[in-house]
Amino acid sequence: MSEKNKILVIGCNGQIGTVLTNTLSKKYGRDNVIGSDIAKPTEPTNFIFEACSVLDKDLLLSIIKKYNITDVYLLAAYLSAKGENNISKAWSLNMDGLLNILNFAKDKLIQKIFWPSSIAVFGPTTPKVNVEQNTIMEPTTIYGVSKLAGESLCNYYYKKFGVDVRSLRYPGLIGWQSMPGGGTTDYAVDIFHEAIKNRKYTCFLSPDRTLPMMYMADAIKATIGIMTAPIEKIKIRTSYNISAFHFSPEELATKIELYFPEFKINYSPDKRDLLASSWPNSIDDQGARNDWGWSPNYDFNKMVDDIMLNLKKKYNQ
Ligand SMILES: NC(=O)c1ccc[n+]([C@@H]2O[C@H](COP(=O)([O-])OP(=O)(O)OC[C@H]3O[C@@H](n4cnc5c(N)ncnc54)[C@H](O)[C@@H]3O)[C@@H](O)[C@H]2O)c1
Repeated sequence: MSEKNKILVIGCNGQIGTVLTNTLSKKYGRDNVIGSDIAKPTEPTNFIFEACSVLDKDLLLSIIKKYNITDVYLLAAYLSAKGENNISKAWSLNMDGLLNILNFAKDKLIQKIFWPSSIAVFGPTTPKVNVEQNTIMEPTTIYGVSKLAGESLCNYYYKKFGVDVRSLRYPGLIGWQSMPGGGTTDYAVDIFHEAIKNRKYTCFLSPDRTLPMMYMADAIKATIGIMTAPIEKIKIRTSYNISAFHFSPEELATKIELYFPEFKINYSPDKRDLLASSWPNSIDDQGARNDWGWSPNYDFNKMVDDIMLNLKKKYNQ
């Protein structure tokens, strides 16, 4: 990144945005990182904040011009569980938001885009284990449908207009710094807070619902990794599979019991369990590893230990 590069993170107050914007600011300097969101930050930030919707093209363009933005990280989206309750809004935010940013790059107003896809692009007809990069993709949620269409749109803008858009299919992301925003893997964040505060948790997924997951620190590493990789290393312009580990609620609860032997988990699977049942158990990410050198730092045990350490400090335990 040259000194002239300026970053805009859209959706900076969400689960990923909170951590990503903070990390980018530490890496590139406060004056080079602008965060935007429809919600105001609840705590002081180490970046410049501009209130803006990704759907407000004119305001967005004025921010891009004001700061000479070169790189956009587009995180604003309707997530899987929330999207099922509002199909039109989910489609509009997930697709029109992306189209706005792709068009700014097509018109050479910005240079580079990061846009996350998700394992929700897979569906019940996808193989369950070690899912390959190119496989059957027939998603059964509007979120997954919009992510799959978004992947095609990114690839189209790259092929037709040379837009440098880079993407990852995030698995479920787990961190301790921020709370999730309406996804199907939210339980894996909530459970830690409830275990520490109340020693009990009611899980909305089935005990054996194994899903691909990743620690937030590794998601940030992958995101900055793909954005800073030399352009010739990026061979996939739909979205890269990335993976770290997978586990079920039962396995996570067993690990948490090592910290709190009195911890009790109950299961009350709801419609989110049905969404999750259509997704794979594990992902093959050889493409990302081979093309631009991706590898995670955290396995399941190391992640749980790190979250416990940080949350116990946060809750003074
Ligand atoms: N969190 C995960 O486990 C996960 C997994 C796979 C993919 N992803 C993808 O990563 C991205 C970020 O996810 P997240 O978990 O941080 O989501 P989140 O819901 O926690 O955060 C989204 C942020 O976008 C903001 N926002 C909503 N509408 C907006 C608009 N019109 N304009 C600007 N900002 C708006 C919200 O206020 C919120 O702060 C999304 O594209 C999501 O699909 C997340």
